Amino acid sequence: MPEISTLNPLSPFAAQISHLFVAMLVVLGAIFLLVLGIVTYAIVKYRDRPGAPPPRQTFGSRNLEIAWTLGPIILLAIIFVFTVQTMRASDPPISADDPLQLRIIGHQWWWEADYLKSGVIAANEIHIPVGQRWLLDLESADVIHDFWVAELVRKIDMVPGHPNHVWLEADRPGTYFGVCAEFCGNEHAWMRFRVIAQPLADFQRWQQAQLRVPPSPTGGAAAAGLKLFEHNTCVNCHTIAGTPGNQQIGPDLSHLASRTTIAAGAADNTPGNLYRWLKDPNSIKPDTHMPNFQLSDADAKALTAYLETLK
Ligand code: CUA
Repeated sequence: MPEISTLNPLSPFAAQISHLFVAMLVVLGAIFLLVLGIVTYAIVKYRDRPGAPPPRQTFGSRNLEIAWTLGPIILLAIIFVFTVQTMRASDPPISADDPLQLRIIGHQWWWEADYLKSGVIAANEIHIPVGQRWLLDLESADVIHDFWVAELVRKIDMVPGHPNHVWLEADRPGTYFGVCAEFCGNEHAWMRFRVIAQPLADFQRWQQAQLRVPPSPTGGAAAAGLKLFEHNTCVNCHTIAGTPGNQQIGPDLSHLASRTTIAAGAADNTPGNLYRWLKDPNSIKPDTHMPNFQLSDADAKALTAYLETLK
């Protein structure tokens, strides 16, 4: 299980949120310790002892009443100002001429990533160039999802029929783990993704590779797998460039083998897991919309061999 922590911010936006959280933790923690200290002092000092007289009783103190009413009001006002500042800085306003770079569409239970400049369509892995501020359009194909990469970007809902926008940026190259943060059905917990921030040249190489039509295998199990893909219902849901499959109901598989996981992060992308997934998707992701096609061992092997060619 990858680490997902807001305490390790690696974008200017996440840093703002993290700083506010830490500052509030310190201030509120100090108040907690102060109250705890006073209560402990009172308990020990005024405890019942044999022969001790009852402690002096005090009824009302105007000065104390004013202090503990004004104190919290001032504190809350300060927190309010810092919160508003953080909201502005962690989610800067968008102007009409900011170019949209990426459309992320939440599906039950996977993520579609449409690169609006290049036409690349990816799934469950979002590559971005490091250090660039990208404007994202967030949409949903079915129910409300919520896009969240703790180290990079705040949570933001993906609401059907109501596009939302957010900035995405990473200070350093690396792989960042994202999750869906809004309950969206039985497989909500297995709706994960990765943001892979790369130096510009690497990102462009990745983008070029994603734009290539994968060569069709000409012999062996992989060629048999291609036939199975084309002549079964796979094409009704999935796209593979260069085949009759051109639907976006399930993830685009044109470059499946270049990804690190399958089923939106439910399993590592290995031939063994892919085979298991094709034979019985529910064994990896219960309630997935990927049907069990009752494939024979040979057919599942052939399909695995074919999908493994889709680099
Ligand atoms: Cu999508 Cu939870």
